[in-house]
Amino acid sequence: MGTQHSLSIDALSEKRDAFVERMLRATRGTFEIFSIYLGVRLGFYDALAAGSTLTSLEPGSRTRTHERYVREWLEQQTVAQVLEVENEQAEARTRRFRLPQAYAEVLADQDSLNCLAPLTRLVAGAVHPLRSLLNAYRTGGGVPYADYGSDLREGQAGINRAVFLKQLGQEWLPAMPDVHARLLGFPPARIADIGCGAGWSSIGMAQCYQHARVDGFDLDEASIELARKNAAESSLTDRVQFHLRDAGDPQLAGRYDLVTAFECLHDMSQPVAALKAIRRLAGDTGAVLVVEERVGETFTASGNDVEWMMYGWSVLHCLPVGKAEAPSAETGTVMRPDTLRGYAREAGFRRVDILPIDHFFFRLYRLYA
Ligand SMILES: C[S@@+](CC[C@H](N)C(=O)[O-])C[C@H]1O[C@@H](n2cnc3c(N)ncnc32)[C@H](O)[C@@H]1O
Repeated sequence: MGTQHSLSIDALSEKRDAFVERMLRATRGTFEIFSIYLGVRLGFYDALAAGSTLTSLEPGSRTRTHERYVREWLEQQTVAQVLEVENEQAEARTRRFRLPQAYAEVLADQDSLNCLAPLTRLVAGAVHPLRSLLNAYRTGGGVPYADYGSDLREGQAGINRAVFLKQLGQEWLPAMPDVHARLLGFPPARIADIGCGAGWSSIGMAQCYQHARVDGFDLDEASIELARKNAAESSLTDRVQFHLRDAGDPQLAGRYDLVTAFECLHDMSQPVAALKAIRRLAGDTGAVLVVEERVGETFTASGNDVEWMMYGWSVLHCLPVGKAEAPSAETGTVMRPDTLRGYAREAGFRRVDILPIDHFFFRLYRLYA
């Protein structure tokens, strides 16, 4: 009995110590994310990626920052093992720091599928309205999308940009051969992109299907402005238009060959109303593609391999955003396939197929009228 008791105390201490260790590792990770955020926002990685090495005296004029701060950041990044230092023993302001080439792709190449710089903006955005978030948990209310600010909006845009420009039209849509053929054909196909955010999905589809016309819809004004700017910079304003509209608006009209909704249905307070609009816009012959998070079929204590992240977004952002308007379906980021099937059925779809696209974070659903 005595041994069992002391064993269980040992086991308890071991578990406690492992958790203390884990909390410290998490704190280290948090500092890494936010210090990388500083480097992304202040242009330090761009400066490092452009030149071979930098001292704390050099980025100042280009990035409009102060030497002492730059020096602290360069040292912190080195101790965090992001940067490398060439002459460790030199006087502090003459030490030369370098960004390893392999990391430059992750931190400073927005065209790369491996670029994770926007992830730091997403994290910063997710905690931006912390006070309102605490309040929402207490009152049961929500936090509007706009309150998460430009970091959330632009982080979201940046994290999916390369996927939309490099995979959507190249791999995802060709996985539906009838849709692919229609988008290539005449008369020019029409695409509606619901919850388009900063518009990269609309732009990616227009770039791949050079006759297609795309209408992007979103109810966030700043996102629509950003989308219009992105379309103008991509020289696509003749075929890609963006509209400030609620997806659930019963007045939303038109007839489209393809209607898409990327990572947005779970954010909507009324996903069924949005799916009814989508069903209407696609009519009996148009195709519908919904892309959502690749969470497990059911809740399990261990979660599937992406749920640690999706629950993280959900508790900080997606659930409060979905609850910003009442009534709300209160979906959250972890929208399970059966939940989507139920919403689709309620909206009048008769079948939901999962496309054979192997993506770590996303699951692609084709909905049939
Ligand atoms: C997570 S973001 C996804 C943006 C973009 N589709 C992407 O994948 O990067 C969700 C988007 O859905 C939009 N949204 C949420 N509810 C909406 C609604 N009822 N009607 C239109 N857009 C909505 C938000 O404004 C936001 O831009």
